Formats: sequence, C-alpha cells, structure tokens
Amino acid sequence: MHKILYTLTAAILLVACGGGATKNETTTETTTSSETNLSDNPDYTKGLALIAGSDCLTCHKVAEKSIGPAYQDVAAKYEDTDDNIEMLAGKIIKGGSGNWGAIPMTAHANLSEEDAEAMVKYILLLKK
Ligand code: HEC
Repeated sequence: MHKILYTLTAAILLVACGGGATKNETTTETTTSSETNLSDNPDYTKGLALIAGSDCLTCHKVAEKSIGPAYQDVAAKYEDTDDNIEMLAGKIIKGGSGNWGAIPMTAHANLSEEDAEAMVKYILLLKK
C-alpha cells in the first residue's frame, strides 16, 4: 500500500513539475498583475463560471490550442467590440467552422444569447 502511494505521489509530482516549469517561463510576468484585476471584473467572473459549467473546456484551453483555438488566441484575433461579441456569441450558439482550421465547433442551441455574450466577454478579456 505504502509503496503504491509513494509511486503515485512521485508520478504526480513529476507531472506537476514538468508542466509548471514550461508554463511559468511564458506566463508569470505577463499575467500575474492583470489576473488579480481580472478576478474583480464581473464580466470575467460571470463568463468564466458559465464556461466552466458548460462543455467549452473539453475543446478549449486558455493558453494552448486544443481541439479548438486557445482563448488567448481568440482574444488576440478579435477586437473587444459589441459587433464582435454578438458575432462570436452567434457562433457559439449555432456552431462555427473555417476560421481556425478544419474542425468545426459544435452548436450550443440551448445557450441564451445573453449567456453566450457573457462567455465571449470573458474570452476577449484574456487578451495579453
Ligand atoms: C466539440 C469541441 C468544441 C466545443 C465543445 C466548444 N468549442 Fe469553441 N471552437 C471549437 C473549434 C474547433 C473552433 C474553431 C472553429 C473554426 O475554425 O471556425 C472553435 C471556435 C470558438 C470560438 C471562435 C469562433 C470564431 O469564429 O473565431 C469561440 C469564441 C469559441 N469557440 C467559444 C466556445 C465556447 C464559449 C464554448 C462553450 C459553450 C465552446 N467554444 C465549445 C471547438 C469547440
């Protein structure tokens, strides 16, 4: 039993250290100060909660491309304007394809326009 636990812990530590080392280099300096401000922003916390409660994170990560584009890349591509928020919210609801590659995004027909827009506002706040 102890041996198994020890091996598990060692494996987890290895994974944690490996991942942390590469991430820290690129993100600590640019995000620490803005992250603390962002968590006070109601658009950020609301959008994040909605995204965490939906299926978005199976295909999207904040800083790395997954099945879908990284949210930071989406934020870098689109300016934070009402038109873009509406357009991107429409894509989340109806599904989208052709802007980032061959894989389409599934539709989210049961999302309200308001919730989809709140998600987009959060994503666009991730711009570095
Ligand atoms: C099945 C995987 C999948 C899920 C689930 C998913 N997405 Fe996507 N998403 C994608 C892919 C793939 C693209 C790129 C589509 C393209 O090339 O136009 C994308 C694109 C986007 C874009 C950019 C659209 C554009 O036209 O540039 C936004 C914003 C987005 N997703 C938000 C979300 C949100 C919010 C959710 C949760 C409600 C979500 N996605 C769920 C796969 C997914």
